[in-house]
Amino acid sequence: MQRGDLIADRYLLSEEIGGGRGVVFSASHVFLQREVAVKLLPSMGVRGAKKFAAEARLLGRLRHPNIVEVYDAGVHQPAGANDRVGYISMERLHGQTLKDRLSDTGRLTLPEITTLIQPVLEALSYLHARDIIHRDVKPSNVFLTDGSTGPLAPAVPKLLDFGLSSDLHGDPLSNRVAGTIRYLSPEQLNPNVTLDERVDIWAVGVMLYRMLTGRLPFQGGRHEVIMQIVARKPPPPSKWVTTIPRAIDELVLRALAKRPEERVQSAAELLRAWNRAVGERNWKSGTYQAKAARLSQRPELEDEATPLVF
Ligand SMILES: Nc1ncnc2c1ncn2[C@@H]1O[C@H](COP(=O)(O)OP(=O)(O)O)[C@@H](O)[C@H]1O
Ligand SMILES: [Mg+2]
Repeated sequence: MQRGDLIADRYLLSEEIGGGRGVVFSASHVFLQREVAVKLLPSMGVRGAKKFAAEARLLGRLRHPNIVEVYDAGVHQPAGANDRVGYISMERLHGQTLKDRLSDTGRLTLPEITTLIQPVLEALSYLHARDIIHRDVKPSNVFLTDGSTGPLAPAVPKLLDFGLSSDLHGDPLSNRVAGTIRYLSPEQLNPNVTLDERVDIWAVGVMLYRMLTGRLPFQGGRHEVIMQIVARKPPPPSKWVTTIPRAIDELVLRALAKRPEERVQSAAELLRAWNRAVGERNWKSGTYQAKAARLSQRPELEDEATPLVF
């Protein structure tokens, strides 16, 4: 699929704007002349097609200001080819992903993290209330819109990519272990455990750690990371950035508790605790920002594009 291709008689592809499991194009709806984003999943096998249909249906049910809005989905059969391509059209977001933001700035200040984490946790809370777990929360799946749609438009974070999400009821794939290794919780490494929303809490914990310190809680190669996820308590974030308040340290480590029952239990609880922890300190004093020197970009911080699927 490339620029100029027409999908399902209505989406004219322009430039490629992302990709991983699939490929995402900016496109124009030829009748409405409306700009959209189209996610394409070529060469779907039977299992892939089933998974894709589940993702589209799941997204189609959701309506939340911090979740990307889906317009349409289906299967496209390119002329003269037997390969079928799944497509999902959605609102075209402008801005950058949190992953790109972090590779520009290294880490973020407490006020920046506070404005960003609230909408993410609200989106997760909305999903969890519907018995949906995202299972792939990570910086490349959080999009920071830049508010460029109008002078009063706010910059809004939106959660993307429901390719690994599962409905706790009824999805035949819900017990499959899947995820991106650096954001994977200990229970996702254990095929005998039934997963629940607390895997998303863990992933937010990893993301908070990354935003606060510029580092991931578990370093090293794939194998070492897996060992540490299961068995090693990460050093508190203040080990790397000494100005991080103790209450934040404790909260992040509680989001990263190995046993789900010892972890922060819900997105709503995490949000309340975060606000309490930042409120305990007068971060407007500027001490944090003053010391938040930009870290140079580190190659080992790249989150992995290839998900680990057992
Ligand atoms: N609606 C959108 N508007 C703008 N960019 C998008 C949109 N959806 C996805 N992208 C870009 O494409 C990338 C991959 O999309 P994603 O849905 O995460 O698919 P994958 O399963 O390939 O990770 C995102 O990280 C983002 O940069
Ligand atoms: Mg993604």
